[in-house]
Amino acid sequence: MPEIRRIVLELLAQLGSSREARQYLKEFSEVDETRFAVVKVGGGIIEAQLDALASALAFLHRLGLRPVVLHGAGPQVDRALDEAGIETRRVDGLRVTDDAVMEVARPVIYQQNMRLIEALEERGIRARGIQHGVFRCDFLDREKLGLVGEIKSVDLSGLKSAVDSGALPVLTCLGESASGQVLNVNADIAARELVWAIQPHKIIFLTPTGGLLDRDGRVLSAISLDNDYEALMREPWVHSGMRLKLRQINELLSHLDRSASVSITSADQLTRELFTYRGAGTLVRRGEEVHVHEQPAPSVMEEVAARVEQSFGRSLGDEWPHSLDDPLVLLSESKRAAAVVVKGADGVPYLDKFVVTPDAQGEGLGAALWQVLRARFPAMYWRARTSNPVLSWYFQQARTTDRRDGWVVFTVGIDDPQQRAGLVDDALERDSGWQEPGS
Ligand code: ARG
Repeated sequence: MPEIRRIVLELLAQLGSSREARQYLKEFSEVDETRFAVVKVGGGIIEAQLDALASALAFLHRLGLRPVVLHGAGPQVDRALDEAGIETRRVDGLRVTDDAVMEVARPVIYQQNMRLIEALEERGIRARGIQHGVFRCDFLDREKLGLVGEIKSVDLSGLKSAVDSGALPVLTCLGESASGQVLNVNADIAARELVWAIQPHKIIFLTPTGGLLDRDGRVLSAISLDNDYEALMREPWVHSGMRLKLRQINELLSHLDRSASVSITSADQLTRELFTYRGAGTLVRRGEEVHVHEQPAPSVMEEVAARVEQSFGRSLGDEWPHSLDDPLVLLSESKRAAAVVVKGADGVPYLDKFVVTPDAQGEGLGAALWQVLRARFPAMYWRARTSNPVLSWYFQQARTTDRRDGWVVFTVGIDDPQQRAGLVDDALERDSGWQEPGS
C-alpha cells in the first residue's frame, strides 16, 4: 500500500503541484472512512463515460479513499420503456411508476449497477452493488404516482459493511416499503437523503457538462452561497434547470457542516477537481463569514501579517502595522483571506494589503472577500507590481488602471480625473511595509 500511495502521489503531482495533492489527500483521509464523499452519477454517465468513471473511482479506491456511489438509470429506463411500447409519464418531475413500468425498470436498474461493478472489478477494485435495503420508504402518492417511494429513513449498515470489508459501495435509487414492496425513488431526492444521513465531507455530482455554466456557457469555477446565491437566482441567464440545481444544493449544504462542499464535475475531470486548488468543475460551498475589524486588535494585525508574509514569501518591517493610518481589517472566518484598508489621500480608502491563500482562491474566497470589500468601499484605490500573479484579476475588478515603472495603480469609484491623478501619485509613493527597501 505505501508503494502504491507513493506512485499515486507522483501521478497527482503531475496534475498540479505535489503539495496540492498531498494537502487534499491528507484532508480527505482525515474524515471518517465512509464520510469522505457521496458521488452521484447520472445514468447517462454510465452509458457514455463508463471507462472514465470507473478509472476515476478506482483511482480514489487505490488511494485508500472510499467514496459512496449512488447512480441513476434514467435514460436507460426511458429507452427500455420506449422499446416495450410503454409511455413515460412524469408528474412534477417524478416518474409515474405503475406495475408495468416497474417490471421494465427494475432489471434495467440492476443491469446498470452491475455494469459499473464489473468495470470496477476489471480494474482490480473490490466493489459491492447495493440494490436494496438502504432507503426505507412509504408510498409518496400511490394513486397519482404508483410505485414511487418517499424516503422515511436511511439504513447505512449495508454500505458500512461494504466499506469495512474494503469494497466500494455502489447504490441504486430503489427503496422498499415496510412490507418489502420495491419502490422507485427520484435520484435527486435519494442523493439528498443519503447525503444527510452520511454527512460527507464532499458531495460530487458527475454530469456531462462538467459543472454549472455561466451566461457564456463556460464552467463557473466557484460559488459561495452566502455571497452569490441571491444574486445568481436573480440573474436572467440562470435558466430553470440551473435554478433548481442551485436551490437543491443550497438546501443540501444547509444541513451539513460548513466545511462540506459540492463539486460538480465530469468523470474525466474528477481527479483534477479533487486534488488541485483550482479544480476542474464548479465548487459550491456555503462560504465563510467575513469579519470586519474597525479597530483591529494587535492579535488580528499579527494574524494578517503572518498571512501576508507567508503568501508573498517575504517579511514585513517592524513599522507595519504601526505606521498605518486608521487601518480597517476584513478577515474571513478561516483566516485564509484578509484585506487591510487605510485612510489614503483625499480621504479615499487605500487598499494596503489583499491576501488569499491558493486553496482559498480555488474555493472562490477571494471573490467573496472582494464583494464585501466593494460593498463597504464604493471608492478606493490600490497598487500592484506588474509581476503580481493576480494582476489580471485586479484588471477585471478595477475601473481605471495606470501603469508606471513596474507598477499598476487601480481605482474604483473615482470619476474626477484630477483626483485620480493625485491618488495614482500617492499610491506610487507609499511605503509597502516590506523589510527590504525599494519594494
Ligand atoms: N480540490 C478542492 C476540493 O475538491 C478544491 C476544488 C476547487 N474547485 C473548483 N472548481 N474551484 O475541495
